[in-house]
Amino acid sequence: MDSAVANIKNTSGLAVTERTDNWWIGPMAVLGGLTAFVVYSTWAAFQGVHYAVGMSEGFGGYLSPMYSPLIWIQEGVLGGAPLHHAIFGAWPEWWPDFIPASPAFLIVAFPLSFRFTCYYYRKAYYRAFTWTPPACAVGALPRKSNYAGETGLMLFQNLHRYAMYFAVIFIFILSYDAFLSFFRNGVFGVGVGSMVLLINPILLGSYTFGCHSFRHLMGGNRDCFSCDTRAKMAYGNWKWITKLNENHQLLAWVSLIWVGWADIYIRLVSMGLITDLNTWAF
Ligand code: FES
Repeated sequence: MDSAVANIKNTSGLAVTERTDNWWIGPMAVLGGLTAFVVYSTWAAFQGVHYAVGMSEGFGGYLSPMYSPLIWIQEGVLGGAPLHHAIFGAWPEWWPDFIPASPAFLIVAFPLSFRFTCYYYRKAYYRAFTWTPPACAVGALPRKSNYAGETGLMLFQNLHRYAMYFAVIFIFILSYDAFLSFFRNGVFGVGVGSMVLLINPILLGSYTFGCHSFRHLMGGNRDCFSCDTRAKMAYGNWKWITKLNENHQLLAWVSLIWVGWADIYIRLVSMGLITDLNTWAF
């Protein structure tokens, strides 16, 4: 906690505080940022079109990270991918008509559950959306007397340690997408989209590998860091993961924004609204 905040008394009454700094900027920024991302990503997921560029031209092409991996796909949609890119092929007939046939719906639970239960995001959205309290030493919304946050909500949030394994798998999938983005019809090249898709798994990996659960998996659960070779290796892991962990909040935001930006970029190129500068055009 900020030392300027540490000596301030606890207060009662919503937003009542002795703090004289702009404590409300953080929760308001989180409120605006997360709302904007949820609105955009929901809209993008419902589209089901314009999520790929150049994938129908053989090996390579760009794929939006909001749609990857492609589990099932509908062939012939605008800006989509050909059938052989889907893991299980054509879109299933049992899919209800009232839900768009969008590959994004098939994968969204994995990144969503990981982000939603992230230790940093919990703090951020508890403060920004529930105001219980909105910041340190600031009055909170009145809480129900039957509060069960530690026994109910916290149990659910334990999902994080399992969601982390899927998040790690996604880093490899998105790294493969980045590799593919350097090819068009089997020909190696570089485009602005290649750079966008290359930076994406780097940022996501920095966020994911700085996760508290990942640090515990790789370097935690030990009483001694110097007792044997395995313990020393665990300590080495703990140290480099801690470097990422110290910037976890920043990486959470930068990686989130980059995923949205990568989808926007590929969508705009696919729609023909902007041109991707690349070496294949020469
Ligand atoms: S704590 Fe943030 S991703 Fe695990």
